[in-house]
Amino acid sequence: MSKQLLLETGVALSFLFNPIGSIVAEDPTFGERKQVHNVAHRGATGYAPENTIAAFDLAVDMKADYIEIDVQRSEDGELVVIHDTTVDRTTDGTGQVGDLSFEELRGLDAGSWFGEQFAGESLPTFEEVLDRYYGKIGIFVELKAPELYPGIEKQVAEALRERNLDKPQNEKIIIQSFNFESMKKMDALLPRVPVGVLTSNTADTTPEALQEFSMYAEWFSPSYGIVTEELVENVHSLGMQIGSWTVRSQDTADFLFDMGVDAIITDFPDYVEPRKMKY
Ligand code: G3P
Ligand code: CA
Repeated sequence: MSKQLLLETGVALSFLFNPIGSIVAEDPTFGERKQVHNVAHRGATGYAPENTIAAFDLAVDMKADYIEIDVQRSEDGELVVIHDTTVDRTTDGTGQVGDLSFEELRGLDAGSWFGEQFAGESLPTFEEVLDRYYGKIGIFVELKAPELYPGIEKQVAEALRERNLDKPQNEKIIIQSFNFESMKKMDALLPRVPVGVLTSNTADTTPEALQEFSMYAEWFSPSYGIVTEELVENVHSLGMQIGSWTVRSQDTADFLFDMGVDAIITDFPDYVEPRKMKY
């Protein structure tokens, strides 16, 4: 029996045996409620330095559903979590992530730039994040500029396989990127782990483009500026979910609730909390 049929059968039985349920059923909004996943962008970035344990721990404390992390690779092959392809903005060092050894990267201060109380925060590794957070909170894993790190898809797949996270796990691990070829590779390597494509380009929202994405992606994740109700419907009609970014105001969060997206990726998890419903 399909999920839809199961749901319809359950609702019909509740009408027969539960008069209160019948009253609720008369509410024209019943059945249209939608829960939106609260995704802490690079952690709770509004309150703690992005892509650090401090920001991820805070996202857990704030009861976000997911953290979003950016994965790159050190010169000597360690998968590290940092957004920019240089360390200049978010650490006390300089240089390209891929030109620095893991020891050099790990020695950087990734917290002081945000606030002295975060001094000494270091760049987390991908494996450290998996081990510390899997089971506590979902993880949106972004492969950042994977074209700079040949073979990174295999490495990410291996780290997940070693932990038995290559199976469907209530979709608590999702891998996404702006690099669509990389996501095709990821889908081939880990067919049971959902992948997503990120874009801020309206050329990627045409029916043809969406159809192509739906061949390998389970998520379509546009910047909020290009989200419309029609886009949400088109994405859903192809069986994909839609997550949108980056929310830094309550108005933007409310706009995305109204559009009916499935996930809101936000620097401020409290804008998506308490769980708000679309009616
Ligand atoms: O998850 C979406 C978002 O992270 C994409 O943009 O630049 O913050 O990685 P960016
Ligand atoms: Ca990201």
